[in-house]
Amino acid sequence: MKPTLLTIAAATLSLGAAIPALADGQVNIICSVQAEWCNMVSTVYARTTGVKVNMSLKGSGEALAQLIAEKENPKTDVWFGGTGDPHLQAAEQGLSVEYKSPMLSQLYPWAQQQAQQSAFKTVGIYSGPLGFGYNTELVAKKKLPIPKTWADLLNPVYKGDIQVANPASSGTAYTMIATLVQLMGEDKAFDYLKGLHKNVSQYTRSGTGPIKAVARGETAISVSFVHDAPGEKMQGFPVETVTPSDGTGAEIGSMSIIKGARNLEAAKKFYDWALTPATQEMGAAAKQFQLPSNKATKVDVRVPDFKKIKFINYDYAKYGASAERRRLIARWEKDVNSLPR
Ligand code: G6P
Repeated sequence: MKPTLLTIAAATLSLGAAIPALADGQVNIICSVQAEWCNMVSTVYARTTGVKVNMSLKGSGEALAQLIAEKENPKTDVWFGGTGDPHLQAAEQGLSVEYKSPMLSQLYPWAQQQAQQSAFKTVGIYSGPLGFGYNTELVAKKKLPIPKTWADLLNPVYKGDIQVANPASSGTAYTMIATLVQLMGEDKAFDYLKGLHKNVSQYTRSGTGPIKAVARGETAISVSFVHDAPGEKMQGFPVETVTPSDGTGAEIGSMSIIKGARNLEAAKKFYDWALTPATQEMGAAAKQFQLPSNKATKVDVRVPDFKKIKFINYDYAKYGASAERRRLIARWEKDVNSLPR
């Protein structure tokens, strides 16, 4: 059937409804969650608003390093996701700007607290607990016990079978160090990290590297956010997680608007949109199972049950402070990473 003028007009009209008028500008985003979620956010936002989205993917520590490097001439408008500590550091270093979103009152107290303690220069968008991942087939084959406590990871049976991320590039790994320091006291925590170093085969750049290696049977054990496991399991990999019975930390995944943003108004609009329940549900749709920060966001059954986990009382302000974060990472480089294995 030949298209008539009427059908063309109807098609144009419905297209017009799906793609609103152009000239809505652009927004430049650094995204520190996994690619599938970043891509979904970028595509849906561009399609529904007509705004051009330029997105680059970077781990939390690397994103912070980039923002420091481009401070005099910022190319980024919004930093979406990644652990909260480097977002707090960015706020303290004047790399992000205050913004009080009208959405704030809809968020859980922990997400609002993240905003308050940064003078509203960042905000919580999700939270998730730190734990251990293990490959069920590999631990059975190698007859390895399933670790239950932090101390268990020092067992020599795990030599060469544990992967952890590198805290210089990964917020996941920094969360581990900050958790251990709060749990054991600093000197004991560093003795612990030296012991763990003997069992670690590799420090990966990205926080999700170790759980992906576990899922694919490249290593038996990882230190990981437990919400990163269900996505691997959904792909058919034999991976399970535990949270240490002696207590663990949680991240407050965050979002910030960058100081000197060239597209400030567009940045604010994206920020408000990112805090809505419909947008937050994209996390689970992209197989990432953090707890969303908007109280009205539907919580997927695969999101870890926080009530069943023993948490430390994580001091986000202290461990998000620039000097503390820099000092602990430098100490880890000097006292731990430089040691032979
Ligand atoms: C994954 C997790 C996020 C976390 C991020 C940190 O994407 O799902 O919850 O914020 O890693 O990444 P990084 O590479 O900085 O450890």
